Amino acid sequence: MTLLNDKIVLVTGGSRGIGQNVCVRLAGMGATVGINYVSNSTAAEETLSCIQENGGKGFLSCFDVSDSSAVQEAVKDITSTHGSVDVLVNNAGITRDGLMARMKDSDWDSVLNTNLKGAFTCSKAVMKGMMKNRWGRIINITSVIGFLGNAGQVNYAAAKAGLVGLTKSMARELAGRSITVNCVAPGYIITDMTSELSEEIQDAIKAQIPLGTLGQPEDVAAAVAFLASPDSGYMTGQTLHVNGGMYMGN
Ligand SMILES: NC(=O)c1ccc[n+]([C@@H]2O[C@H](COP(=O)([O-])OP(=O)(O)OC[C@H]3O[C@@H](n4cnc5c(N)ncnc54)[C@H](OP(=O)(O)O)[C@@H]3O)[C@@H](O)[C@H]2O)c1
Repeated sequence: MTLLNDKIVLVTGGSRGIGQNVCVRLAGMGATVGINYVSNSTAAEETLSCIQENGGKGFLSCFDVSDSSAVQEAVKDITSTHGSVDVLVNNAGITRDGLMARMKDSDWDSVLNTNLKGAFTCSKAVMKGMMKNRWGRIINITSVIGFLGNAGQVNYAAAKAGLVGLTKSMARELAGRSITVNCVAPGYIITDMTSELSEEIQDAIKAQIPLGTLGQPEDVAAAVAFLASPDSGYMTGQTLHVNGGMYMGN
């Protein structure tokens, strides 16, 4: 597929899970993919090898999405080496779960900083180039939890719901330059993030999913691929839900 030929893509948190799959999928569409990660260089190199084994192009970019000067420095570097970023996927995310009564401020801050501020800093760093080119795609990975809420995840739910508001506002600000901004909201997907859930909890989750199984990273990557492609050019400010039917609202 050549829908993204000559495009530069940056995927935050591209070393593992959903982000890794997104990197491979978009590289398969012809893009040169920047694989961001914060600490796991072995996993990031695996993503790059996977892209290259399939005949695609990519590069590594290590930075913390919540550190705005590191983000600006990295994007400057990418732009001078590869060209300006055409497609940004804000995927980097963490959880620090616990009931609110016992939640430490540091757990609130780190989840908000990575999941929400990270999308703000990365989008801000790439949008100038997109505005100049009068084309761009920004895709924010939110979560079904941002729509349903979840006991034990007030920080994560707030960050993910915040991403939806960020997306809609950015979509309005950038539409005049043909830059679209959309969300993908996964349900429960099998990755490192969910691997710690006990079998009992996984069974309870499955009982709430009409399609009866947890999702695969590929299911999410397919939705991202559509939003990154020219085919989605008339969609902005939207959320695509990829959750097996667990949540059917908007
Ligand atoms: N899995 C699910 O069921 C599910 C459901 C809904 C939404 N989501 C969302 O989908 C996204 C990906 O989730 P996942 O399950 O694939 O997660 P994952 O397997 O835990 O991978 C997280 C990725 O984020 C990177 N990362 C974490 N903090 C970062 C930071 N400060 N700066 C840069 N990169 C950072 C990690 O890099 P390192 O490898 O260097 O640590 C890793 O690549 C997240 O936003 C998550 O909230 C996941």
